[in-house]
Amino acid sequence: MSANAPCRLGVLVSGSGTNLQAIIDRIESGEIRAEIACVISNRADAYALTRAARHGIPVVVHENSSFSDRRSYDAATVEILRRHEVDLVILAGFMRILTDVMVNAFPNAIMNIHPALLPSFQGLHAQQQALDYGVRYSGCTVHFVDCGTDTGPIIMQSVVPVEQDDTEETLSARIQKAEHQTFAAAIKLFVEGKIRVDGRRVRISD
Ligand code: GRF
Repeated sequence: MSANAPCRLGVLVSGSGTNLQAIIDRIESGEIRAEIACVISNRADAYALTRAARHGIPVVVHENSSFSDRRSYDAATVEILRRHEVDLVILAGFMRILTDVMVNAFPNAIMNIHPALLPSFQGLHAQQQALDYGVRYSGCTVHFVDCGTDTGPIIMQSVVPVEQDDTEETLSARIQKAEHQTFAAAIKLFVEGKIRVDGRRVRISD
């Protein structure tokens, strides 16, 4: 990433893209000094693609079925990201586990948002896992991606209360509001060069 050019983001999606929208809005308002170089979806029907196209962002549909294994899928993804000169990869509801091919191509430069306070409730249906466990607080976590599932160094977390009558849907909606703020804040820190990774600990400078 050169000193004066805006940081180039590659955003990987699979679904509705509300986190993508939150990032687009903050870039357009000037809050985050970055440019979305491309949006890549592993699903042709992801609404996130419509959101990206509305804002004139290049989109690539990169479906799972065209590849025999996860590593060759990731190698093709890395090639797309390199072609778009991406500095930071954002997993915004991307429903695939990355292999070492992707992780090693972008060391400490892939961010994911997870709808729970890691390391609790990793994997799918994190909000339902939190309800089933009976926690009073859950939230969201932005972390760098390593080869595990939701195990990489934690950048930021936000706490969200769990209400007595919450369902998976109501808790998810409350957590998503926090996701949009927290993801944007973490991306802003990265593009401003304020994040340093020290083993598992992420140091943030002011
Ligand atoms: C979010 O809840 C995020 O935590 C999870 O996937 C969901 C994506 O939602 N990883 P959206 O596509 O950004 O609306």
